[in-house]
Parts: sequence; structure tokens; C-alpha cells
Amino acid sequence: MEKVKNPVKIVDLTFRDAHQSSIATRLRIEDMEPIAPEMDKVGFHAVEMWGGATFDVAHRFLNEDPWDRVRRLKKLMPNTPFQMLLRGQNLVGYRNYPDDVVEAFVKAACDVGIDIFRVFDALNDFRNFETSFKAIKECGKHIQGAICYSLTERKLGGPVYNIEYFVKHAKRLEDMGVDSIAIKDQAGLIAPYDAYHLFKALKETVKLPLELHTHYTSGMASMSVLKAIEAGVDIVDTAIAPFALRSAAPAIEPLIVALEGTERDTGLNLEKLFEIGKYFETIAPKYKEFLDTTKMAVIDTTVLMHQIPGGMTTNLVSQLKQANAINRLPEVHKKIAQTRRELGSPPLVTPSSQIVGSQAVLNVLFGDYKMVTNQTKDYVYGLYGQPPMPIDPEVQKKVLKGYPRGETPITCRAADLIEPELEKAKEATKGIAKDIYDVLIYALFPQTGMQFLKRKYGLEDSSD
Ligand code: CO
Repeated sequence: MEKVKNPVKIVDLTFRDAHQSSIATRLRIEDMEPIAPEMDKVGFHAVEMWGGATFDVAHRFLNEDPWDRVRRLKKLMPNTPFQMLLRGQNLVGYRNYPDDVVEAFVKAACDVGIDIFRVFDALNDFRNFETSFKAIKECGKHIQGAICYSLTERKLGGPVYNIEYFVKHAKRLEDMGVDSIAIKDQAGLIAPYDAYHLFKALKETVKLPLELHTHYTSGMASMSVLKAIEAGVDIVDTAIAPFALRSAAPAIEPLIVALEGTERDTGLNLEKLFEIGKYFETIAPKYKEFLDTTKMAVIDTTVLMHQIPGGMTTNLVSQLKQANAINRLPEVHKKIAQTRRELGSPPLVTPSSQIVGSQAVLNVLFGDYKMVTNQTKDYVYGLYGQPPMPIDPEVQKKVLKGYPRGETPITCRAADLIEPELEKAKEATKGIAKDIYDVLIYALFPQTGMQFLKRKYGLEDSSD
């Protein structure tokens, strides 16, 4: 068959997002290595194999050097670009790091073999991209700017997250010099026709390659990916069947067949992927304990009802159970919409989903903002960045009353307030860390990082 002009390009998520979303990020390097050479032959546009939670989980739970994972896979997969997920100024952690740590981390990631950096910010505050973008550019690597997909209504539209919002943000990314743009639908909210209209509009406005990243959570992902393809999306993210579906990504195999013989034919070899899938089935049983087996359904219908991300519901339920108030879940669901609006309608993704969720529960249990979490205070003060809409002035006043840093929120880039930390990290790991990679494990995760380094070099003492 003649090669099609515009094949859909595929980014495979099996080594990162897919196992993060289905088996709590537990896939080990020794189960990736045997199949890596075969994965290298598929012809993926890229493999996302690092970043997100993998750095944390590898050193904390798997006793694996996260840097070593990239080096080892690179040897086995020299032909496929490596992609990582970077949480902007939060890197692969859960707080804003100072610029010197961001610069050193990005440089180290380039040095071990990351080629494409997908960078996102939970609030879509692009000031949180400035330092990492600059560092990636200096290393000559590919910057992919990601826009978090979010909704305030059941479908795309309304006063905040409408087509104009995403088009405007895509244009800004283009102006910032990115090499490609992704719509990052971490909660699996994007509906098929919304995906169609969104990518049509994006295609008309920006010239860069466009990618759709979505999750299977709500059950709509395969349909949405197909409609995005019809609208002209260049790249889509999938996983090998055993680690696909559930809260992970659409599977690659059915997509290949769906597109076969069309003008967007992927050209990928189904037989090869079938063999790779068989391999993953052989190693899957040891990870089965990490699968969510609390429900028969492999999709989460709450997402269709309330657009509340799956992980957030789990947290709400456990918080309410602790307070002996699980019967108030329907009230909390309603309260979330109000609390989120008052807090400037942020996308619901870690950490904003956590901030809005916990505060909504407290508002139901004790009355609106009678009790306020420290995270909510930091958020309202501006330490996470700027939300898409202004925070309700009354709520702002209540929340910041007596806040030690001040009662007037900051308007600068949050990281401008953070002192450099890299030299302190070098000092703290003196005599233990052998190189900058070791130092960075500590700089990002001081407690578990230090424990890991001691284990790595056989310095672990019994007091640990
Ligand atoms: Co994802």
C-alpha cells in the first residue's frame, strides 16, 4: 500500500502515564527492559517513559534510581524519542522549586536522554513555564506546551473553559516559542464533538503540531480521539492494551485497525503490537494488586455526572468517612461547584483538585470558610499562581485574615519569592551524593531522597 500523506502519529504511554494511572506507577525497569528493543521497532512518534510520578515512586517505593531508568532504556531504544511529563516549576514534585533547581533538573534530564518535554501547570499560569522553557531551549530539546483541559459545565463552554480560552492559551504558547502543543485532559472529560470543534479551532489558529492526551476514565476517550483525528490532530497518546483503558489511555491496537486504509492510517504493524501486548500480559499478574477492583465498571460514571476527576472523588469519600459524614457526599458535590467558583474556577488537577475538594468538605461540615486549610491560604495568597478567574474578594479577605505572609495576595510569579536551594542541597548531601543526579534526588525529595541515597551507597543505618 502507498504511504499515506498525513498518518496519525502515536505517542506510547505504557512506560509512564499508563501504569501511573492503572497500577499506581509501580512498573519496574526490569519488566520494561526485555520488551524495550521491540517497542523501539514499532515506529512510535515518541514514548513517554519518565516524569509525572515515576521519579517519586521509583526512589521512594521501588528502590530504583530514577535517572538510571532513562539511561538504561536509552541504550535499548536508540531510535525512539523519549518524552517526559514536567509539572512546570513543580518539576516532578508537588511544590514550586526555585529557579536554580529547575535549571539543574532540566539540564540533567537532557543529559540522560530526554528529548521531548511536555510541560504543564495546574492553573494554566504560563509564568510557571518561563524557567523550564528557557532551560529546555538552551539544551536544544523539544518543548511541548500543554494546556490542562477543564470544564465548569458538562460540555465545553460557559464563561471560563470555552473554545476561546484554549485558542488564546495555544496562541500564547506559540508566542513563547514552543515546538508543539498538547491538550492535556488528565481527568478524561473531553467529549467527542467538543474534541472535534476544539481541534478544528486550534488548527485554524496555530501552525504547530497538535496533540491530544486524554484518559479513559469517563469512557469517552476512544470516541474523542477519533473525532480529534477527523479534525486534524497530528499526534494522539495511547497505551498497549494490557495497560490501556480504566483510568489510563485508549488502547493502540483498535485505533490502528480503525484507521487502516484511511487517509490517516498510522502505518504501524498490528502483529508487532500484538506480540508486545502478549509480553505485557506475562508480567501483569504481579501488578494486579494495584488495580482498582472496588467496582465492576472499568469506567467512572461520576465523571460524566459531575465532571469531578476520579482521584478527587476518592479523596472526598475518605475525608467524609473520617468525619463520619459520608451521607453528605451529594451536598459536597454541589458545594464543590460553588467553592471552585469562589476560588477562581481553577482546573481540577493536582494540587488544585485537592485544595478545592478539601475546602468544599470543610465548608459543608463547618460553614463557608469557618475553617480554612493552609493549602487554601497559600493558594489564595498566590503561591500556586494565578487562577483563570479572579478569586471572590469576600472569600479572599476571610481566608487571608491573619495569614503570616500578609493579607494582600502577590501578583508576581510565585517562584520569584523562593530563595535558591541547589547549593544547600549540595551541602546537605556532602560525602553521600556522588554527582548532580544524586543531589537533585535530595533537592526534590529531601526526606525520601536522603533515605534512597543512603540505601544506594550502603550507608543505611538502623535508626532510619
Ligand atoms: Co495523563
